[in-house]
Amino acid sequence: MPDQSNESRRKFLTKFTKVVAGASVFPSIITAADRKRNLESLKRDIKFSPNDQIQIAVIGAGGMGSADTTTAITVPGVKLVAACDLYDGRLADAKKKWGNDIYTTRDYREILERKDIDAVIIATPDHWHKDISVAAMNKGKSVYCEKPMVHDITEGPAVIAAQKNNNVVFQVGSQGMSSLGNEKARQLLKDGAIGKLNYAEGFWARMSPTGAWQYPIPADASPANVDWNMFVANTQKRPFDATRFFRWRNYRDYGTGVSGDLFVHLFSSLHFVTGSLGPDKIMATGGLRYWKDGREVPDIMLGMFDYPETNIHPAFNLSLRVNFVDGTGGTNYLRMVGSEGSMTVEWDKVTLYRNTANVDASDPLAKNNMDTGKQYVYERKQMLSPEKMEYEAEKGYKGAHFDHFYNLFTAMRTKGKVSEDPTFGYRAAAPALLCNDSYFNNTIMHWDPVNLKIANK
Ligand SMILES: NC(=O)c1ccc[n+]([C@@H]2O[C@H](COP(=O)([O-])OP(=O)(O)OC[C@H]3O[C@@H](n4cnc5c(N)ncnc54)[C@H](O)[C@@H]3O)[C@@H](O)[C@H]2O)c1
Repeated sequence: MPDQSNESRRKFLTKFTKVVAGASVFPSIITAADRKRNLESLKRDIKFSPNDQIQIAVIGAGGMGSADTTTAITVPGVKLVAACDLYDGRLADAKKKWGNDIYTTRDYREILERKDIDAVIIATPDHWHKDISVAAMNKGKSVYCEKPMVHDITEGPAVIAAQKNNNVVFQVGSQGMSSLGNEKARQLLKDGAIGKLNYAEGFWARMSPTGAWQYPIPADASPANVDWNMFVANTQKRPFDATRFFRWRNYRDYGTGVSGDLFVHLFSSLHFVTGSLGPDKIMATGGLRYWKDGREVPDIMLGMFDYPETNIHPAFNLSLRVNFVDGTGGTNYLRMVGSEGSMTVEWDKVTLYRNTANVDASDPLAKNNMDTGKQYVYERKQMLSPEKMEYEAEKGYKGAHFDHFYNLFTAMRTKGKVSEDPTFGYRAAAPALLCNDSYFNNTIMHWDPVNLKIANK
């Protein structure tokens, strides 16, 4: 069989040699003007959609909305033109950061009406994700919506349907999804580097007021500069409460607890690496142990999840935990364990631990096989591979956050695929949200990850 890659390489080299030879024979014929014209025509040859410059707006210009915007505009050809927030202080900050000429408003609907905006970043508290996402897609906008994609398990289908009906690009903001680390881990798992997967675990440990969501409340916060009515427009009406507004994660009307906030990242990465659609059994426990500041959600949560066997992976168990009272503070990890080793997965690094031990003849199962003559276990020595291997991103790696936005804008330009579409985002959010149902209702939750439905057992 002819080696096609060699053949095309040979053709490529022959062509290249002719071009170079031609150029060196007639060097003076190519003028500076020709060169400029050639370069310009080369530029025009690149097939971008009419959306060459992508204009974006941020809706929810707080901590993550600002980080998202700052990263998004580092992707070439992307410009911020508007910002929306319910606190005037954040709008003033937005102008300081991104220029006085950006348009600012408290009302997201004004942003969605604008024809000069191609895509919106939605980084509001969780209870607004579904409503603004659906409204934005119905106006033909592409969307980058922060995780968790939805606030309640019932909201996922509306987002999936809006994306399909409007045929727009929708990316959920679990940025680890697009990272080099996740890609490497997926490849290692597929190549059998840890053998047969049977268990995974992840945790987040924190021990600081901000880590535990006690964010500063601006001294000037008042109904005059906070649009409280809009904040509660799609949930229970209450009188103005600055603590609820600025520390929204602590309250169930707006946030999704530690599982919606943090487990969801681990689900996204785990599902990406394993190709899994999700667990079918979800159990959570925990408690409010320390941050008794009026919050409605636990500061320690443990979740256990059963992943059923599929044609892509074996059955395995997952254990996740978040501890906001962890004296070791500031660590998090995701680790996958298989019959031949384990790996810890970070967005820019994967550490693989291989079990290099030989077959142990004292193992009762092996001994039984030998005794019954079923299998002769020959303890021949073997070449050992390193017990620990570290894969690190090259210096200068722009990181998962950049990758995730690059992925979004490339999908918009090429009508291509994003790495975290609404179906994937819902599959990552669902088990995290079901942890809250399990915890608050003291029950085991069953989920059908294929058909995206709560299952009755
Ligand atoms: N991907 C990540 O790593 C990551 C990290 C942090 C937060 N997040 C997500 O980002 C979102 C925002 O979190 P945050 O920490 O930035 O919170 P934040 O409180 O700092 O910012 C939220 C902002 O949204 C504004 N807002 C509230 N309702 C609004 C509405 N209806 N219209 C316009 N603006 C509105 C608030 O005024 C506030 O400025 C959350 O969903 C969170 O889960 C993701």
